[in-house]
Amino acid sequence: MQDLNGKVAVITGGASGIGLGLARRFAAEGMKLALVDIEADALDVAAKELKANGADVLTTTVDVSSADQMDRLGKSVLDHFGGVHLVCNNAGVGSGGPMWELRREDWEFVMGPNLWGVIHGVRVFTKAMIEQNDGHIVNTASMAGLMNVGGLGPYNVTKAGVVALSETLHHDLAEAASGVGVSVLCPGFVRTQIWDSERNRPDSLKAPEPKATDEEIALMKSVMQGMFEKAMPTERVADRVLDAVVNRRFYIFTHESTNAAIEQRMGKMLRGEDPFAPQGGPEVFTK
Ligand SMILES: NC(=O)c1ccc[n+]([C@@H]2O[C@H](COP(=O)([O-])OP(=O)(O)OC[C@H]3O[C@@H](n4cnc5c(N)ncnc54)[C@H](O)[C@@H]3O)[C@@H](O)[C@H]2O)c1
Repeated sequence: MQDLNGKVAVITGGASGIGLGLARRFAAEGMKLALVDIEADALDVAAKELKANGADVLTTTVDVSSADQMDRLGKSVLDHFGGVHLVCNNAGVGSGGPMWELRREDWEFVMGPNLWGVIHGVRVFTKAMIEQNDGHIVNTASMAGLMNVGGLGPYNVTKAGVVALSETLHHDLAEAASGVGVSVLCPGFVRTQIWDSERNRPDSLKAPEPKATDEEIALMKSVMQGMFEKAMPTERVADRVLDAVVNRRFYIFTHESTNAAIEQRMGKMLRGEDPFAPQGGPEVFTK
């Protein structure tokens, strides 16, 4: 999609991190924004900043894992703007633990936004873009969609699902000879608030009883926060996404360090060896 000026972008998880970075980047290109998030206060703050810089912004508080809320979002965006051209299915959370310790609630907490949110976004918006034969969908997966580290079971499963969903959508759109493009965003570590995803856990999916003391939890959080502060800024990710949308590129890799890891994983698979995991865990992907 070459000409973005005046077109409409829907961005889920737009109140923070990568989503907010995308909102700033696409607003700078002259796009109108439908900014979606589960956090109403953060959404207001983000919208105020974007509007102060001249953007046309519609904010909607939505839980992307809810089919009904996403159906209503689809209708309200089309009613308000009269069309949709770019859909960034980006909202997500991170959570994990040893696979055998995870409860149904822990799986649902992650599967809801990370996988169902993307499914609903594709289900609700793609037809309108096919009808106008113009548009692009960007689904946020992760390096975790292409390789797996221990302790992140639900996250890895959802991100692999988003890669599979996006590749399949690409084939379906090609088969239909549609002018609509699709990309899958697979970043390494990015400077965002994802380390604090528990803030997004709905009451209905109650958190497990903590095994650590308040002090230990506070220490773990500050270590995580420190780790993410060293990660790639969201502006760099947004630049890559813009480039992929304009030049119709499918895979969006943001970190140079990940290419060698993808090759190593494939090599181990083809040689019939045990699964690859990056040495030092996922935080090696900061550059
Ligand atoms: N930060 C990283 O290192 C990294 C790496 C790879 C992929 N990702 C992916 O990037 C995406 C954005 O995450 P981020 O890192 O910017 O984190 P973030 O926490 O800064 O932003 C995520 C946003 O999604 C929103 N959200 C969460 N659950 C929601 C729901 N059910 N409905 C609507 N909104 C919801 C949150 O309120 C928040 O504003 C996620 O899909 C994440 O998995 C992040």
